[in-house]
Amino acid sequence: MGKDTVTITDNSTGKTVEFPIKRGAHGPAVMDISTLYKELKMFTYDPGFLSTASCESKITFIDGEKGVLLYRGYPIEQLAEKSDFLEVCYLLWHGELPTRKEIADYRHQINHHTMVHEGLRDFYQGFRRDAHPMSVMVGVVGALSAFYHDLLDVHNECSREISAQRLVAKMPTIAAWAYRYSRGEPFAYPRNNLSYTENFLHMMYSYPAEEYEVNPVAAKAMDLIFLLHADHEQNASTSTVRLAGSSQANPFACVSAGVGTLWGPAHGGANEAVINMLKAIGDVKNIARFVEKAKDPDDPFRLMGFGHRVYKNYDPRAKIIRKQCFEVLESMKVDDPLFEIAMKLEEIALKDEYFIQRKLYPNVDFYSGIIQRAIGIPTSMFTVIFTIGRTIGWISQWNEMITEKVQRIGRPRQLYVGAPNRDYLPIDQRK
Ligand code: ACO
Repeated sequence: MGKDTVTITDNSTGKTVEFPIKRGAHGPAVMDISTLYKELKMFTYDPGFLSTASCESKITFIDGEKGVLLYRGYPIEQLAEKSDFLEVCYLLWHGELPTRKEIADYRHQINHHTMVHEGLRDFYQGFRRDAHPMSVMVGVVGALSAFYHDLLDVHNECSREISAQRLVAKMPTIAAWAYRYSRGEPFAYPRNNLSYTENFLHMMYSYPAEEYEVNPVAAKAMDLIFLLHADHEQNASTSTVRLAGSSQANPFACVSAGVGTLWGPAHGGANEAVINMLKAIGDVKNIARFVEKAKDPDDPFRLMGFGHRVYKNYDPRAKIIRKQCFEVLESMKVDDPLFEIAMKLEEIALKDEYFIQRKLYPNVDFYSGIIQRAIGIPTSMFTVIFTIGRTIGWISQWNEMITEKVQRIGRPRQLYVGAPNRDYLPIDQRK
């Protein structure tokens, strides 16, 4: 084996510098170029971070070529089968699976933080009823810092943990109320006798005038959706949360920035975009035309729910949720014509040379929307559901960042290609 360094020579000056290679537990090694500017007076250029590791992390590992996803070392398939969302939240935050007592305490703690300040409830009244629920989420999550400012010291371990629990516990309440507000319906308060996911469904669908019974199939499927979305290493929204947090901003403000980032159709908004696309296709006979559009380099249309920056194989979450999709549709006796279109589209795209060559496989969003439709979740709420699941990932990654020994504000550099230095031109001399 050679030396654990990479040598870079600047051919314009002939200067040669060695940079150390760092190796993690899994995955490609990284070249530590933190001294590059000092040594060579040069930055690296990597738009979209295609070759850049922005941090060290012990939380989640993805092998995109093999289709592997590990939370704290545990394969997602095992967690999906044997665990549940709250246990996964504990694991992501603490790093280890809980004992019986630890999980009982954690469940109690989360259950008893689900209420929100009554002032926050009034806050909703300022939004338009037809606002997208994600726009309400960005606002209300950010506003948490105005209602829970007692424990915002980011350097205090206890404050960080309570803020994290508040976020995980209150997110379903905030999300369900965003939905109820859009419908002009009364807000349902959380109930401590229900599990995390049952509580969410209760707050989404119960009315004061009648009893509401949570469908166990729906609750199980929703819990799985939360679990599968809980973390995904340094994706766009998580990187946003870390970057915001690097300025020592409070966790609610940072997570609100993450919610805004998640909303985009290239990220968490894709599940909503999948359903809109399936509706636009409308019939299996139109699939070929849409596939051709997706392949046309002059057409901006892409197959929503296909492709992933990291997975160049089947997204392991997609495999799990695909199976769950069949189970939910069958046990809830849902006959959804969009599902037929989705299955045919999947079949055609997976056999198409364009998609094979580019390693474009269905991602988790391709199926999660169909399950949510079967449960009765409106399309506009899909990304909100993703937000509930991802909250623990954001806050765990934020906590990892804020507890690093060396604290540095995230501050990328640039290659300036604008106008060179020039003198101000008085207005009467401008053309
Ligand atoms: N449909 C058609 N072509 C596609 C698709 C798609 N869904 N995705 C990528 N391609 C093509 C690109 O046009 C490009 O082709 P080219 O090499 O001929 O130029 C090639 O595949 C590589 O694509 P990139 O855009 O470079 O891949 P990148 O890693 O930047 O993008 C992304 C990944 C944003 C997810 C992309 O695949 C996409 O837009 N997919 C649809 C949206 C989606 O489903 N997003 C959800 C992501 S998962 C999540 O957030 C939970």
